[in-house]
Amino acid sequence: MTRELLGWFAHAQRDLPWRHTRDPYRIWVSEIMLQQTQVRTVVPYYERFLARFPDLASLAASPLDDVMKIWEGLGYYARARNLHAAARAIVAGRRGVVPQDPDRFAELPGVGVYVRAAVMSIAFGKPLAAVDGNVKRVLARAFGVEEAVDRPAGATAIQKIADRLLDHEHPGTFNQAVMELGALVCRPREPDCPACPWCDACVARAEDAPHDYPRKSARRPVPTARIAVGVVARRGRVLITRRAESAMLGGLWEFPGGKIRDQESAEAACRREIREETGLYVDVVAKVATVRHAYSHLKVEIDVFRCVHRKGRVRLRGPVDHRWILLEDTGHYAFPKANHKFIPVLKDAPVERRGRPRASKRSARSKPDRKPGA
Ligand code: ADE
Repeated sequence: MTRELLGWFAHAQRDLPWRHTRDPYRIWVSEIMLQQTQVRTVVPYYERFLARFPDLASLAASPLDDVMKIWEGLGYYARARNLHAAARAIVAGRRGVVPQDPDRFAELPGVGVYVRAAVMSIAFGKPLAAVDGNVKRVLARAFGVEEAVDRPAGATAIQKIADRLLDHEHPGTFNQAVMELGALVCRPREPDCPACPWCDACVARAEDAPHDYPRKSARRPVPTARIAVGVVARRGRVLITRRAESAMLGGLWEFPGGKIRDQESAEAACRREIREETGLYVDVVAKVATVRHAYSHLKVEIDVFRCVHRKGRVRLRGPVDHRWILLEDTGHYAFPKANHKFIPVLKDAPVERRGRPRASKRSARSKPDRKPGA
């Protein structure tokens, strides 16, 4: 089976930027970005990332905020935080080189079973079978795996098959070939069975039932959270806060707000959340937008309000940093995708100017903005 697969891969594989390098750092960046994310989405991010951080040293030397800004929109931001932390750990403690020992490599932040196997096999030829979603689907179909692949028994069955099939001479090529087969031929909805090098041996094909694999356990419905967010204006600027690194979307900037409680109005939640998170008392002026966004495990519905600062000084509880910025400067900061859905609407209307003007002629507005990380 391996020979047929590698023969197919040799002519059918896509020309992807990470297939032109042997640099373990570049291969690592590609595999981190490719987790949960399609190749088509990853390619431009990969190229921008490596233009900005061409090696481990440049990544380690950069502030996290610069890394988050490049990652903005790619999602699963823990990947970026972990990669940055791993680069710093390597530069601080390992003379700046990516470890070749899979167990040492796996000690780094963000390196789980999949990334360990993928990077170590592709960069250093270590005989480790990498199993991602594509591989699960391909092997579940080819071998007719009956266990649900999102359960431990099914995951173990798939890993065993992958370990057994792995080509020990060319483990990196083998791993990429199975993934490529999943992406190009053994697709989730419209598999192109006649084009498949495993067509004759495939159990799902013999059953004429590729759509019945991979088996999955019943999914729980994704809950929806209602959120209220305030764009608080003071002297022509608006308040943004930075999420703690340990939180979901950690390290990103946002307009402050939070979950609307049962029986609470969105406006009241907006005032309460801003008071709790920032110490500021605000007046809600008007609703600007309602936006919806779906994360993998959570849907959010966000009511966005224009607010003005009434009283109080910023004392953060939850967020770890804040800035009063000009609306036109939002582009300097990394925001979650859901925020980008309403930022253009904010820019269409002038910011409320209520608030005590500065006594001095050199107002805050005339100062250059402090960039994140500066
Ligand atoms: N998905 C995960 N790793 C990949 C790779 N190296 N090439 C293409 N798709 C992938």
